[in-house]
Amino acid sequence: MSTSSGARFLDCLSWRNLAAVLFMIAALNADSAISGTPVKSANPACPTAFWNFGDSLTDTGGTLDVFAYSLDPERSPYGESFFKRPAKRFCNGRVVPDYFSLAFNYPLLQPYLQAGAFDYNYGANFAAGGTTASNDTSRNPIFLINQVSEFVRLKQSATSQKNQFACHPFKQFLPRDDSYGEGLYTFEIGGNDVLNAILLRNLTAEQIITQVIPEAMINILATIKILTSNGAKKFLFFNAPNAGCSTIAITVLASIPGVQTDEMGCIVFINELDQAYNKALNDTIASARLLYPGRTISIFNYYDANLEILTNPSLYGFNPALTKRACCGAPGLGTLNYNPLVTCGNPGSNKCANSEEYVNWDGVHFTDAFYRQISLWALSGKFTDCPVNYTSLCNLDFRNFAKSSTYNSVYPQSCRVTFT
Ligand SMILES: *[C@@H]1O[C@H](CO)[C@@H](O)[C@H](O)[C@H]1NC(C)=O
Ligand SMILES: *[C@@H]1O[C@H](CO)[C@@H](O)[C@H](O)[C@H]1NC(C)=O
Ligand SMILES: *[C@@H]1O[C@H](CO)[C@@H](O)[C@H](O)[C@H]1NC(C)=O
Ligand SMILES: *[C@@H]1O[C@H](CO)[C@@H](O)[C@H](O)[C@H]1NC(C)=O
Repeated sequence: MSTSSGARFLDCLSWRNLAAVLFMIAALNADSAISGTPVKSANPACPTAFWNFGDSLTDTGGTLDVFAYSLDPERSPYGESFFKRPAKRFCNGRVVPDYFSLAFNYPLLQPYLQAGAFDYNYGANFAAGGTTASNDTSRNPIFLINQVSEFVRLKQSATSQKNQFACHPFKQFLPRDDSYGEGLYTFEIGGNDVLNAILLRNLTAEQIITQVIPEAMINILATIKILTSNGAKKFLFFNAPNAGCSTIAITVLASIPGVQTDEMGCIVFINELDQAYNKALNDTIASARLLYPGRTISIFNYYDANLEILTNPSLYGFNPALTKRACCGAPGLGTLNYNPLVTCGNPGSNKCANSEEYVNWDGVHFTDAFYRQISLWALSGKFTDCPVNYTSLCNLDFRNFAKSSTYNSVYPQSCRVTFT
């Protein structure tokens, strides 16, 4: 066990990187031998900002701030758990980037294109519903690569403005100088590549494995290249959760003849494709670690974390009888309160009494309670390949994770606005 975790540790480092670590250890020893003083207390490994890229699971306004679509998250009961109103999130409350900000006591991460109320001091969120890692035009013309271009534009524009105006009127809202190099770049992407290919593009499993996933990986590697050339050093990738266990997949596909389900009732071929994506992601990140030494590139195993919650729900406060059921939705198809014709927020839909017991919020996306557990794990390096334990490293405090906390209690009215 200790040998294999030692070997994993070495995998996380490239050889150049390892030499740097050995040199650093030697330097630290030499230093303490001379001065006898402890190592610096403010840990430089703690992110000063977050830059998030992804789809609807981490969207905090990327879709609704830009497109004049009419979408369910604009309607009650979306947002009711923490925000007490619809908050442009595909959730009843907080999503993972919100929990990350709360853990660090930062303002909530702002969506990049929020009109009239921007604040990039602690980074920005580029995530938008429907985004794919591959350049898949079947649903949205939004790909990971576009979000990365948005980041590059923001950095260029903010930097040139800071250089041009000694007294920039919005200086306090521009990214801090150390936010690019000392920020944590988080990614939650991949699920839509697989789902679009099946539900919208009618591709076979073989086409997904030989075309879609490799295309996604080319873009992920390009993403890391672009961001490292812009100073990024810390990356945390969330892999694809098992969408075969989602309420929508089970409701729509389980009754089709020939579609195989597992002992939990999940759709086998979707989970297998998610794992094929995740395996490819492992390989891609292994290459990236060699290509870009000196960076920390972690993968949070969202798939395994989701599986753990579905396997042992009561350990984490979820009701074992309700793990596949949508908290908010409508009957009419299947038995899980999901009806694609009457979705959450629309006339005829209902909402469960206690969303804390539920994994699934609206048939497609997860609950505030689910994302809380995922965030606790991701921040402490659990289920993580090349883990960083921010919980201990940065002395995180989870007071604001409480289910009773609200947007107004955490961010009381002040001149230093925390928009959402
Ligand atoms: C989907 O693809 C299969 C072949 O893989 C084909 O038989 C079927 O007609 C296609 N369905 C649609 C709706 O295009
Ligand atoms: C996706 O599109 C971007 C931008 O046009 C391009 O640079 C990239 O090479 C494309 N990726 C693939 C896999 O074709
Ligand atoms: C990806 O790598 C992690 C860490 O080695 C491993 O636990 C996981 O099973 C891998 N995922 C797949 C799908 O191979
Ligand atoms: C991370 O650190 C916290 C606080 O010290 C500890 O409770 C937790 O077990 C650590 N996580 C892992 C995965 O080791």
